[in-house]
Amino acid sequence: MCGIIGYCGYKNATKIIIEGLKRLEYRGYDSAGVALGLNGTLKIIKSKGKIKDLQKKIPDNLGTQYGIGHTRWATHGIVNDINAHPHTDCSGDLAIAHNGIIENYESLKNMLESEGHTFVTDTDSEIIAHLIEKYFDNDLEKAVKEALPLLKGTYGIVCAHAKDPRKIVGARNGSPLVVGVGNNEMFLASDVTAIIAHTKQAVYLEDGDVVLIKPESFITTDLNDRKITKEVEQITWELQQIEKNGFPCFMEKEIMEQPESIKRAMSGRIDKEQATAHLGGLNLSTKELINLERVKIIAAGTSYYAGMVGAYLLEAIPRIPAISELASEVRYRNPIIEKNTLYFAVSQSGETVDTLYAMKELQRKGATVLGICNVVGSSIARDSDGGVYIHSGPEIAVASTKAFTSQVTAFYLFALLLARMRDLSYSAGEKLISNLQSIPPKVEAILSQCSKLKEMAKKYAHYKDFLFLGRGVNYPVALEGALKLKEISYIHAEGYSSAEIKHGPIALINDETPSVFLVPDDDLREKIMFNMKEVKARKGKIIAISVEGDEEIKNIADDVFEVPRTHELYYPYIMVVPLQLFAYYCALELGRDVDQPRNLAKSVTVE
Ligand code: F6R
Repeated sequence: MCGIIGYCGYKNATKIIIEGLKRLEYRGYDSAGVALGLNGTLKIIKSKGKIKDLQKKIPDNLGTQYGIGHTRWATHGIVNDINAHPHTDCSGDLAIAHNGIIENYESLKNMLESEGHTFVTDTDSEIIAHLIEKYFDNDLEKAVKEALPLLKGTYGIVCAHAKDPRKIVGARNGSPLVVGVGNNEMFLASDVTAIIAHTKQAVYLEDGDVVLIKPESFITTDLNDRKITKEVEQITWELQQIEKNGFPCFMEKEIMEQPESIKRAMSGRIDKEQATAHLGGLNLSTKELINLERVKIIAAGTSYYAGMVGAYLLEAIPRIPAISELASEVRYRNPIIEKNTLYFAVSQSGETVDTLYAMKELQRKGATVLGICNVVGSSIARDSDGGVYIHSGPEIAVASTKAFTSQVTAFYLFALLLARMRDLSYSAGEKLISNLQSIPPKVEAILSQCSKLKEMAKKYAHYKDFLFLGRGVNYPVALEGALKLKEISYIHAEGYSSAEIKHGPIALINDETPSVFLVPDDDLREKIMFNMKEVKARKGKIIAISVEGDEEIKNIADDVFEVPRTHELYYPYIMVVPLQLFAYYCALELGRDVDQPRNLAKSVTVE
């Protein structure tokens, strides 16, 4: 959840580190700091707040060529300058930046305090600096390798030492770290967004790896000092993909990108001749796919809702029993692995710890777990038994948007593949493909009507509570609509099946609690209309997302946003986009920091 960068080369390290931190800011933004190598010392500068606050404290032209930086999302200790990373040892010569959680920090702290070390922060991370200090004898890499086996927990760390200058040591255990290989310069970062302005060559570290970078080289070893040969991989993301490109913020850019990102998720995967889909990375034989009896999906947040849509599709199209479960709950429930069951771990970042740990627990018990991820080389993508990349491109805004529609696309493709191995006819397969391919222009048409949602947001943003109501395959979309609104506008919102309101939530209805109804032209429309009337009778305000030409609804709803008609199974795409835009415009109306909402961070790497 925090961001790390390290640089060693001949250029202006301060500039590179600050720019890198700005690109990593979406991973954590409560405080930040740098440790810069300067004339045989490390200059440590830290600040509560955003990177721009830190930048103001750094003198111009420091003339440094190596250093480390960190942007924090607090776990242990309040947000202030002192608790910001990097943390130092007693001498002030060693600095470390850490992502992850050290579980045994209290016992290590007691031990080190009894040996004379003095701690100044409330963080678990500071322990790492003192532990390395204990073993330091003018060789930073050696000291790191002696210290790390004592830690229990997760870490991605970078560290520098004034007495072993012009080098940075990094290590990974459960928190991502990547080496950027440049020309006479090397980088270390928690994700590639921090380095792609400088290099497209990356080495992804695995758990247990330690790396030493110097301007001309990098060496990877394990904790026992055994050399590990790593493959240098090409980063596929482009610099312009992580820039706003004229949009006021990343969230708007990412919502608007969806016609293209959905197409990218399908690209090369549709076989029109056979009326099926090809998903190259599944690593499953035809026999294994045919024998599948059940699919279980694990995920968190928006990815969990995409999984719920996926489960619905898998039951509706290939008729395979499927369920989406919260990864955080699966892990601790001692899950039962049934035969011929396939699991999917769905995660935009591929780093969400709840999902990653649940996946490992399932694998330990013999399950096959495939990943549906966006970030190439991420932990879930690497540790899963196969999977599907959704190719959304970088998602920088903290609130997930384009990943949702692409994750859903991966499930349509998988459902098509399985269905064509079972009962689905050739012509039904063709129809499914043409429905899927008709989605991007329909999403485009919705986006072109965004000003209507902006107007609606102006009218409704001052309300304190909302209900989002949908049914069937759109029930998870209602949950997602409520999540989007609450996380970026801080308006309280609940998602429900509209059938469920009479079992409790209807007690909330009054003229101060608007309900957003999702009303496609499917078999459940009449029932949803009935629920709308129940809300109307209690003076509840109604916003309806309904299909073009549905005149009846205009007599009931206070405001209507019309969407293009589609086959009933495809409404999640059509319904979610207006909800993303509505949440976005409400947040703007309330003056919120849309890309970096309070208390949140992209990529949740703590439990
Ligand atoms: C909501 C949001 C979060 C993430 C969740 C899982 O807008 O972004 O709910 O969906 O933290 O993240 P990933 O998909 O990276 O595993």
